[in-house]
Amino acid sequence: MNIVFLGLPGTGKGTQAESLAGEMGVPHIATGDIFRQAISRGTELGKKAKQYLDSGELVPDEVTCGMVKERLAEQDTKPGFILDGFPRTIAQAEALDRIMQELGRELQKVIFFSAPEDVLIKRLSGRRVCSKCGATYHVEHNPPAQRGICDKCGGELIQREDDREQTVIRRLEVNRDKTQKLITYYQRQGKLTTIDANGPLEEVQKQLKEAVGVQ
Ligand code: AP5
Repeated sequence: MNIVFLGLPGTGKGTQAESLAGEMGVPHIATGDIFRQAISRGTELGKKAKQYLDSGELVPDEVTCGMVKERLAEQDTKPGFILDGFPRTIAQAEALDRIMQELGRELQKVIFFSAPEDVLIKRLSGRRVCSKCGATYHVEHNPPAQRGICDKCGGELIQREDDREQTVIRRLEVNRDKTQKLITYYQRQGKLTTIDANGPLEEVQKQLKEAVGVQ
């Protein structure tokens, strides 16, 4: 199944995508993760993306769409994929429709993660990520067994630069109207399912599994 996860920063897309993709045996493709890896490797893509990520702005569509097109053409996406953080603009949604058509495939579902913005600010300010494997934690809602250390690989947990309060506020501003337009776009295509992402992790996961038909 080919699925898009749509939602404002901090709604839990990455956390849920990671476990669902594992269960479904499909890749979790997160545009933010691809940019961060490119930045840490110092590639051309990373050089183009860095200023945008640091300030909470969107990377230009032409850069992002080309990158997603290449990634979706890879063999491991054949059984399906979870695309997390793309599209974020109508131009990206239209590009995705074209990419899918060219690949002779179809986007089956768009899951919209809905949660109030005050909750998102708290989640993002308490988020910690593993500097080695990228696993995501929260200081209160999803803490590691040992403070500051990743359960999965023993790496050091750090705060993302763009999780500082001012940048979080900017990210919400940048994405608010665009996300609303995408909701309408996918409602018209009959692909949108909204889930309440404001509950505990397990409840969100339960709704998500029902929405995609995974037991
Ligand atoms: P990206 O990395 O995609 O960031 P984002 O959309 O801002 O989303 P986040 O990763 O911050 O949030 P999430 O919904 O995945 O939440 P998470 O599961 O981590 O993008 C970063 C940047 O890259 C952008 O600003 C932009 O510059 C660029 N970019 C990316 N895609 C782009 C595109 N398509 N076009 C242009 N530019 C692009 O959860 C958050 C926290 O909450 C965690 O601590 C987690 O443990 C906790 N949590 C999760 N669920 C729950 C729950 N149910 N209850 C309690 N806590 C929870």
